[in-house]
Amino acid sequence: MSEYVSVAILAAGLGTRMRSRKAKVLHRAGGLTLLEHVVQAATPVASSPEAIVAVVGHQAEQVRVALAGRGVRFAEQTEQKGTGHALACCREILQPLGGLVVVAYGDCPLLCPETLLALVARQASSPAAATLITTVLPDPHGYGRIVRDEAGNVAAIVEQKAATEEQQRIGEINSGIYCFRGDLLWKHIGELHPNPASGELYLTDLVEILNGHGHHIVPMEVADSRELLGVNTRVELAEVDRLLRERKSRELMLSGVTIVRPETVSVDAAVQIGMDTTVEPFAQILGNTVIGEDCHIGTGSIIRDSILEDGVRVEDFTLIGTSRLDRGAQVGPFARLRFDNHVESGAHVGNFVELKKTRLGAGAKSMHLAYLGDASIGDKVNVGAGTIICNYDGKAKHQTKIGKNSFVGSNSTLVAPVEIGEGSYIAAGSVITETVPDDTLALGRARQAMKPGWPSRRRK
Ligand code: UD1
Ligand code: CA
Repeated sequence: MSEYVSVAILAAGLGTRMRSRKAKVLHRAGGLTLLEHVVQAATPVASSPEAIVAVVGHQAEQVRVALAGRGVRFAEQTEQKGTGHALACCREILQPLGGLVVVAYGDCPLLCPETLLALVARQASSPAAATLITTVLPDPHGYGRIVRDEAGNVAAIVEQKAATEEQQRIGEINSGIYCFRGDLLWKHIGELHPNPASGELYLTDLVEILNGHGHHIVPMEVADSRELLGVNTRVELAEVDRLLRERKSRELMLSGVTIVRPETVSVDAAVQIGMDTTVEPFAQILGNTVIGEDCHIGTGSIIRDSILEDGVRVEDFTLIGTSRLDRGAQVGPFARLRFDNHVESGAHVGNFVELKKTRLGAGAKSMHLAYLGDASIGDKVNVGAGTIICNYDGKAKHQTKIGKNSFVGSNSTLVAPVEIGEGSYIAAGSVITETVPDDTLALGRARQAMKPGWPSRRRK
């Protein structure tokens, strides 16, 4: 593609119909903000990342933060005076670049890069002033309608509110995605006039203006209209989220991941999963999670921002946040790995065990009912049922260390800070407050007393 291509993404509106204090483009679907999806689609099309300009206004600061590190530039639209006005705000940055200007709205997250590339190719090979993406919707309500001339070009775009009854029956809609010849766009954008009803400058009016100057606008109709859905309400947000997740699951399945009842599973856009891993119904795999090959993710489990090496088993209903599970680790069912945990290879975490900032060494086990916080637990340690690490004294958190091959008896209480050496035993029911050296049995419990005959005396 020889011509320079820049992209303007309009994202300054509040989105009144969302009924939210948060700018619409910051709402999330498929694990990313709506705007991030559009920027991702624009990136392969733009001649460079700096050729992408996001028009920001409502919550401009938060929008900038959401796009930080992508190299995108920003134009400020301080007052939301319509889509035409928003595009005009990019003039200073984009006009000097020349070439073609792609315009997309920040509320269309299903848009694919392939479609934008096709749009640019179509415009680059045509004498038209602009090419715009249209589609036919079974229910076009709310969208701008495409009025075609006899030649099949776009004569005008009529917004829902201004459409006559006859125009309202037009099924072909404006997607809000255009490719303009930059020279003509900047030459004529100043001719937009405020809409009499709303007082806004509508970008869509540029079609008639360009036609009036003897240019023409060609439609590029796409068959899969779902890609062009715009989000205006939370009902549409939910629908778009569903479609994005369906797309993600499909991609994963085609790359060798088994997903059982995929319609119930939620996988965020950035997640990676290796071959022959199985994901069971109602699992949620979120954020920047990376899962290896031959893993098993059980029903109802939620995994966020975590790394699972090959062969890890996550049994049903397990919650994992920012943790690392090495090869062959097994966790759950009903376990909770809150954050910053490292479960090393072959270690087991069983039901009703909670881990926080804890390392569980290779082959170590904590199979039932435990709280392990701020602890480093050595290889092959067995942590008995009901073990509690008292890591918090009401003011500060303290560390616990357990040496390799040690055995912590059931219902032990380890009062941090405390250290247990290697190969030691903690007797069941002990309260441990002092350092236990290597190869030592520690008993920290009252001796058992016996009173023969006491029950029958009481019964009398
Ligand atoms: C717009 C189109 C309509 C099209 C539909 C496709 C216009 C006038 N109408 O309608 O033809 O069918 O999109 O989804 O263009 N924005 C700004 N600044 C503003 C106003 C809006 O940056 O002053 C941004 C919004 O943040 C949003 C985008 O432009 O991302 C579209 O605005 P929205 O109000 O959703 O337009 P629609 O009514 O959906
Ligand atoms: Ca919209």
